[in-house]
Amino acid sequence: MNKFATVIMAAAAATLLVTACSKKDPNKTYVGISQVGAESDWRRASTKSIEDAVAQRPQIVMTFADAMQKQENQIKAIRSFIRKKVDVISFSPVVSSGFEDILKEAKKANIPVVIFDRAVDTDPSLYVSLVGSDFTEEGRRAARWLIANKPAKDSIKVIELSGTAGSAPAIERQKGFAEIIESTPEIKVVVSQSGNFTRVEGKKVMENILQTPEGKDFDVLFAHNDDMALGAIEAIRDVGKVPGKDIIIISVDGIKDMFQEILKGNANCTVECNPLIGPTLFDVIEKVKKGETVPPRIPSLEGVFDSIGGIEVGNEETPVQTTKITQEIIDGRAY
Ligand code: AHR
Repeated sequence: MNKFATVIMAAAAATLLVTACSKKDPNKTYVGISQVGAESDWRRASTKSIEDAVAQRPQIVMTFADAMQKQENQIKAIRSFIRKKVDVISFSPVVSSGFEDILKEAKKANIPVVIFDRAVDTDPSLYVSLVGSDFTEEGRRAARWLIANKPAKDSIKVIELSGTAGSAPAIERQKGFAEIIESTPEIKVVVSQSGNFTRVEGKKVMENILQTPEGKDFDVLFAHNDDMALGAIEAIRDVGKVPGKDIIIISVDGIKDMFQEILKGNANCTVECNPLIGPTLFDVIEKVKKGETVPPRIPSLEGVFDSIGGIEVGNEETPVQTTKITQEIIDGRAY
């Protein structure tokens, strides 16, 4: 292409962009959303909750980008939202570090950012609010459940399947779990490996661990999400062990498939992490667009589910008793 044609095309692109921006309807709220991916049932429920919330709000014009679990895709998407001059940018960060520069670009362009689900480790002044779960407390609840139901043994060996390396839920769930088991010296995490929050990787990583000396003799699996636990359950069964009995299975999320496994006795406990944040997220986004003040942190309310019921796994401020899973509960569950 010659220089003249390049100049003409660049001018045409610039005109298109200006036309698109000048066509913005002042009664609408233009939102750019960057989602982590579609790695788990939880994530798909989170996306559906966002889509359902938008479908109920004709004033919202959403541009949705799936980052396919890659930070670089997410940064590209956010940059394109800035270029489009959306009113609000919202995203769930794949990992917690490395967003400082792009958030500074958004701030320079005067576009407010609302983070959902996972936290970033940037200066908090670079975003207005974080809507999502307390992952550290989820890890603590998993550990409290284990302490309340630990086998009568001098040594209880835990294998941990962690989430995506560097992501807020992986870092914080690990931290919360470790913090609570510290006071029970017989419980030790003997292996911790990432299964990237997917069922396929959870199974593969567990298969490999089961071939090691640690994998031949352990008591508990703590998985940072249900999908990895479900993959690992298959691998455990393949080596002739009985998940839920020989090995205590504890995970996080509370998806229907895991509820079903707990009801069948193949797993023991799932700590809920609520993906249905669409309505709250868009309430916040609309307030931000109007220039109203919103709280910097909006946590989700969550429970813990097992086959027993009534086990206290909360803290002094927020006591939480486990709910015993029944078929009725499963049938009424949205995800
Ligand atoms: O950030 C939330 C976590 O991400 C969920 O626990 C997991 O299932 C998802 O992939």
